[in-house]
Amino acid sequence: MQLSVPRRVTATAVLAAAALLTTGTVAGAAPAPVPAPAAAAAPDISVADVKAHLAQFQSIANANGGNRAHGRTGYKASIDYVKAKLDAAGFTTTVQQFTASGRTGYNLIADWPGGDTNQVLMAGAHLDSVTSGAGINDNGSGSAAVLETALAVSRAQYKPAKHLRFAWWGAEELGMVGSRSYVNGLSAANRSRISGYLNLDMIGSPNPGYFVYDDDPAIEKTFKDYYAGLGVSTEIETEGDGRSDHAPFKNAGIPVGGLFSGADYIKTSAQAAKWGGTAGRAFDRCYHSSCDTTANVDDTALNRNSDALAYAVWQLSS
Ligand code: TRP
Ligand code: ZN
Repeated sequence: MQLSVPRRVTATAVLAAAALLTTGTVAGAAPAPVPAPAAAAAPDISVADVKAHLAQFQSIANANGGNRAHGRTGYKASIDYVKAKLDAAGFTTTVQQFTASGRTGYNLIADWPGGDTNQVLMAGAHLDSVTSGAGINDNGSGSAAVLETALAVSRAQYKPAKHLRFAWWGAEELGMVGSRSYVNGLSAANRSRISGYLNLDMIGSPNPGYFVYDDDPAIEKTFKDYYAGLGVSTEIETEGDGRSDHAPFKNAGIPVGGLFSGADYIKTSAQAAKWGGTAGRAFDRCYHSSCDTTANVDDTALNRNSDALAYAVWQLSS
């Protein structure tokens, strides 16, 4: 979906305003107001491109015993798929290894060259599924949206003021092991350089809600502003604060935020009235089960949340 945000002030408008400031006002005319600098407009993320990544995650699961779980071949194949896309797009990628439950796990970190490395904006998603299924909503959806947003940064050759870093976490389903090992491995100085972490875990639930994490006020406002522009109401995420990879960041004092479309909680009739879908049924009745396939995704929720992430990455990094 296209979003109406103020476009960047044109160079000529800035020059004209600067000329007015130095030369004084035109006789008889009121001084032209100088608009506050606006962030560059974020690109529209193609939901078809996001879904193409989900189809690849499904194929990977199908070829690897039906899942993409920690310590299984489907997880490593998922890492290899995402890494290859990022390498081809000009990211500097790093694979971090850790051990959980006696098996090797991997985080993938992708840095976009440039920007102020004393101000790092991060966005991430867990890439592992549970063993019972392919994990397409949980959390192929967040993984694909973060990937497509990173690829949009490359396509735009975006030059933000801040440094951008994208992450795909391993072993979230074992208790956020990968993200915790990443945060624990940072020096205090490097921790303090992270100005924000945006988490996407389950953003295409088939009976969706639109939930925004109630954490850092600036991040929360950015996501809410995006949804206000769409005319879609949001609620505060209450299904399990601290149940995803933002928790280790938050515990380390890093500002966090995120989006969520619901797991096994039941949609109320008030929620169905404002969001559509089915009251009295779970947001995702295939949560952690074998039916979490490419059929288990609502395209509208996936599209809106992917666009909201790109909007926030652009807004918060400029
Ligand atoms: N991956 C999370 C989990 O399995 C999904 C989840 C459930 C979640 N409730 C949440 C993610 C609330 C964010 C917020 O626990
Ligand atoms: Zn899960």
